[in-house]
Amino acid sequence: MCGITGYIGYRQATPVLLEALKKLEYRGYDSAGIAVLHEDALLVRKMKGPLQVLEARLATETIAGSLGIGHTRWATHGEPSDINSHPHTDVSGRIAIVHNGIIENYAKIKAWLQARGGVFKSDTDTEVIAHLINYYYQQYQKDIPGTRDILLHAVQHALTRLAGSYALGVIACDFPDRLIAARKDSPLIVGLGEGEHFIASDVPALLAYTREVYFLEEREVAVLYRDHVDLFTEQGEKIIRAPSHVDWDLASAEKGGYAHFMLKEIHDQAKAFTDTLRPRLTLEAQGWDINFDEIKLDAGWAEAPRIVITACGTAWHAAMVGKYAFERFARIPVEVDIASEYRYRNPVFNPQDIFIVISQSGETADTLAAMRLAKKGGARILAITNAVGSTLSREADLVLYTWAGPEIAVASTKAFTTQLLCLYLLALKLGLLRGCLSDASPYLQALSEVADKVARILNQKELIQRFASRQFNKDKVFFIGRQFDYAVSLECALKLKEISYTHSEAFAAGELKHGPIALVDTNTLVVALATQRELFDKIVSNIREVTSRGAASLVITWEGESAFDAVADEVFTIPQIEDSLSPLLSIIPAQLFAYYCAVQRGNDPDKPRNLAKSVTVE
Ligand code: AGP
Repeated sequence: MCGITGYIGYRQATPVLLEALKKLEYRGYDSAGIAVLHEDALLVRKMKGPLQVLEARLATETIAGSLGIGHTRWATHGEPSDINSHPHTDVSGRIAIVHNGIIENYAKIKAWLQARGGVFKSDTDTEVIAHLINYYYQQYQKDIPGTRDILLHAVQHALTRLAGSYALGVIACDFPDRLIAARKDSPLIVGLGEGEHFIASDVPALLAYTREVYFLEEREVAVLYRDHVDLFTEQGEKIIRAPSHVDWDLASAEKGGYAHFMLKEIHDQAKAFTDTLRPRLTLEAQGWDINFDEIKLDAGWAEAPRIVITACGTAWHAAMVGKYAFERFARIPVEVDIASEYRYRNPVFNPQDIFIVISQSGETADTLAAMRLAKKGGARILAITNAVGSTLSREADLVLYTWAGPEIAVASTKAFTTQLLCLYLLALKLGLLRGCLSDASPYLQALSEVADKVARILNQKELIQRFASRQFNKDKVFFIGRQFDYAVSLECALKLKEISYTHSEAFAAGELKHGPIALVDTNTLVVALATQRELFDKIVSNIREVTSRGAASLVITWEGESAFDAVADEVFTIPQIEDSLSPLLSIIPAQLFAYYCAVQRGNDPDKPRNLAKSVTVE
């Protein structure tokens, strides 16, 4: 998974490309490179290592040119190295490309090109694209000059040979007036300026220059000139489309004064809740109501026999919370499945089912594949995603956006809690439609107050910071809980493991005696989530079981609750809310705990090792 960018206009391309790449580093950061057309040559500078390595290299030389492409890489084929970095060129060095995605049939194409004299420099899949474009470009050279745009046709012809995913930027010495872009299964956005145009994998890379964009649709090709942009279908038909306006402010895509994006995004949650809820909660004379104009739930929703939810990682944990919510409020059976399992287990479809896919990025390969499988089985797809214009949002039948704003840190926080909000609203709406809930107002009233309660928890972050400074070196951290608390425990454990690299697991508290308690020793911390009031005595017993075996313990429970004071080493309290809505609040202290442990251990919480923000390949 990588970040690509490109520029054509009146400015010097190098600084524009580097600035854009900085905003795309979260998509991959093991190497970076640019190619700029200087006079009649493509100057390529590409280096292993984070972007600053390339920046340092470019600080010692000036590359003049106003057409260029750039890339920040997350290696999939070919280990991180200078030669495997992008951009890649054809053998002549007169065509350069940058690519995000995987070409699944690259080995076959490489052999085919080698049999025709192709000489390759790298171990990547991407390099075959540059050579393939050049192969067809040479064929078209024999055309009568001026009969067609031979570079565009060479690109389009090459694309027909590719299996897999791509977001591409292409420039060529012979065409200093244009930049070609194309996408399939990987996101790509065209930024529209005055006398200048841009491409980028994500919006924050463009916001310094423009808010008018085209979200390239599946298999579309764009040709960017200095004074206009042409859009084409993969068959080469011209497309006329109004640009989209992006209303993110640049600050919201920057750190905003926090040490890390993750801490900013944890604090963003109060605003994200407000932004996600406000357009959907209406206060009528008879009380609160849910406004779902954007998805128009038809009668089929009320009669659906089952809900199937599939996702990956944090989004899957949101789905687990959703299961409890749908079954609580709408009394409908819910099946939750990890997308990478769902897509291969030959699942049983029922076209009457409601099929929900959850994905912050809207580009996760396994989640997209699971959705496409369900769609083929006749299911109605509702997507919950944070990415306007993402592949998921364009292929689903209905889309519910989590208006959380850009989530840059690899560890998901505000996207998770706003996914929960959307799931709660859906569950309450479905409960009303199915007649299981006569009045949702008390819950909606509670939801309208959640943003303030999140802010109150964040005001106590020093308590969590101090606890983390005492516990960050524990060998093992186990999160336990029951019902909604168990679902949230899964997310607590992932947060801690993915950024602090601590061995951290979640267990249904009732499972401790069935094995996990064998792991408990004096170098263990057990964090119990205790918000389900009718189960407090069970959690008290669990805490006694683990502390008697030497574990340290923390309980996250309600303000004013004293049931755990005598048994737990530490108790962190959160503002009261209806038990079933507790995940919206109980996850916040765990996010902060994970963040402070990561910082204490000297890790970069925004860019944890081995992870990328959006897993667009299997
Ligand atoms: C969560 O903190 C991780 N970054 C990861 O598990 C993530 O949730 C997962 O890859 C799914 O991503 P998506 O929501 O963009 O589909």
